[in-house]
Amino acid sequence: AIERTLALIKPDAYPQHKDAVLARIREAGFTVVQEKEVHLTREVTERFYEEHRGRSFYEDLTVWISSKPIYALVLEKEDAVKEWRNLLGPTNSEKARAEAPETIRALFGTDGSKNAGHGSDSVASAEREILIIFG
Ligand code: CMP
Repeated sequence: AIERTLALIKPDAYPQHKDAVLARIREAGFTVVQEKEVHLTREVTERFYEEHRGRSFYEDLTVWISSKPIYALVLEKEDAVKEWRNLLGPTNSEKARAEAPETIRALFGTDGSKNAGHGSDSVASAEREILIIFG
């Protein structure tokens, strides 16, 4: 089915790798429905990542994502949720470099947590996340 998903270009990849990431998004055939630079507050970031509250990385993650502007996009395509996560690659950038060297996280990510990009994990998550970021 045609789906929409939320993509974020995180602080380790934005702004320096924005154009390269956008080129990959267009090459893969996504339609960019909405896009904007956004500087999320700590409060909004904590709501965005609330399913990870209590995990060891939650503090560092929410401080980092809210530390400077990032770039948010709504992407549309057949199977957009899965297709965007495939393009991102494994969550851990080191694992991505070992197993999927052409992916966005392999190319532009830093480590196991600072990983260049975010993608919604389901259509329901995408709806929730798009509402938080774009209203
Ligand atoms: P993202 O796709 O934005 O969803 C949750 C984020 O938490 C993930 O990308 C990483 O940035 C981070 N993350 C997930 N798992 C771990 C982990 N095991 N250790 C550190 N950070 C993680």
